[in-house]
Amino acid sequence: MSDLLNIVILAAGQGKRMNSKLPKVLQPISQKPMLQHVIETAKKLTPHKLIVVYGHGGEQVQSCMNEVFPNEITWALQDKQLGTGHALKCALPHLDKIGTTLVLYGDVPLISADTLKALQNKLNNNLVMLSDLMTNPTGYGRVVRDATNNIFAIVEEKDANDVEKKIQEVNTGFYAFSNNHLEKWLNSLSNENAQGEYYLTDVVAMAYQDKLSVESITAPNAYEVMGINNKLQLEELERIHQINQANQLLVSGATLIDKKRIDIRGNVSVGQDCTIDVNCVFEGTVSLGNNVSIGAGCVLKNVTIADNVTIKPYSILEDASVDSGAQVGPYARLRPGAKLAQNTHVGNFVEIKKSTVGVGSKVNHLTYIGDSEIGSGVNIGAGTVTCNYDGKNKFKTTIGDNVFIGSGSMLVAPVEIGNGALIGAGSVVTKNAPENELTVARAKQITVGGWLKKKKGNN
Ligand code: UD1
Ligand code: CA
Repeated sequence: MSDLLNIVILAAGQGKRMNSKLPKVLQPISQKPMLQHVIETAKKLTPHKLIVVYGHGGEQVQSCMNEVFPNEITWALQDKQLGTGHALKCALPHLDKIGTTLVLYGDVPLISADTLKALQNKLNNNLVMLSDLMTNPTGYGRVVRDATNNIFAIVEEKDANDVEKKIQEVNTGFYAFSNNHLEKWLNSLSNENAQGEYYLTDVVAMAYQDKLSVESITAPNAYEVMGINNKLQLEELERIHQINQANQLLVSGATLIDKKRIDIRGNVSVGQDCTIDVNCVFEGTVSLGNNVSIGAGCVLKNVTIADNVTIKPYSILEDASVDSGAQVGPYARLRPGAKLAQNTHVGNFVEIKKSTVGVGSKVNHLTYIGDSEIGSGVNIGAGTVTCNYDGKNKFKTTIGDNVFIGSGSMLVAPVEIGNGALIGAGSVVTKNAPENELTVARAKQITVGGWLKKKKGNN
């Protein structure tokens, strides 16, 4: 086995059947372009060179992947799709003279690093292919063996005779090659076949003719070699990928009420005794401490949740952090910059943005808190609004410790409420409220004597 590893990802296909302006290899699996999945897997083998063969109109593919993997990808243009052999030939100038080349596909996203390593390890100077046994091999290249069971050739469906068509051992399209043979083989390909294409598969027969043994290993999971040509297959692999991730989460000790009803579009880590109810979506990086419970239908994106926290159903949290013992929801929304301290309670229809809520404070009902700093032991009454925006600029609200804000209060920022203050319900607070005092800012209640009687008399 040679040291220098080259990985070539063929990604020049157009994908017309996607019915999309987005190139096929940028179609997402768990919100990530399928080509990105392949590149991430390839990188696990730390290749000396990572080459992507892109096609006509592939600038979008290039710019998108260069953003994710700056300076890591060598691009090889295949301006006309003349076949898989021609595609690999386009990468030839970038390959090391000696070493190993693995061939992967931008539209076969769930290949595993373990399978690729197995191909690499099996390589003994010549060629190893990844094959599979299929009860219905229609459409695939068939693996043809000689009388002593040595691999002799791969015959494409369209070129196969009736006997060959019955062969159930198929070519998945993944290979490991020794670079020292590749140049000669790729330069000898011809396109005299049923499809008029330069078939990469023809190198198998060339190796056999050169008396070089061709080895094969089989794919451990069918999904690893499944390609995507349409939205139906995209959805199938999305579900398989989600089940794989859910399985990983279960193995790491999370309790999932239904592993078929969780979607992970990023990374989730869990402590001990975490329970996730049905229909939750996790995006970005989500970290759950010990003994965390996530209710049904929650969406969590880039959040950190400490121990003993309960997130009740249908809450939406993004770029937020929740400290231990807190309770959030149902129907709560934590927007970017929301920071809840220990033992806080945030209840239904409460929106919190770019604000800290101190230890043990409660914001339980129908409230908007934005650009605010709330101390500890505070109770924010139902229907409170921090009026943080004048149409042009945002302003800060500061609420001290042990404050009680009466229901239906408008706190017009910039404003400060001192420690221990009590704000009467329905106040519109436009000036700072002193500490340890009752402040009421609303029109005085009056009763207009006889007004109703008079009105009736006029009728
Ligand atoms: C290929 C194999 C076949 C195998 C099957 C597995 C050949 C000749 N046949 O057939 O034995 O069973 O894969 O799925 O290789 N591509 C390019 N440039 C090209 C042609 C293709 O980049 O000029 C890329 C495509 O984007 C695609 C992949 O290579 O991702 C496979 O090409 P495709 O033409 O679909 O090959 P198959 O006919 O499926
Ligand atoms: Ca194909």
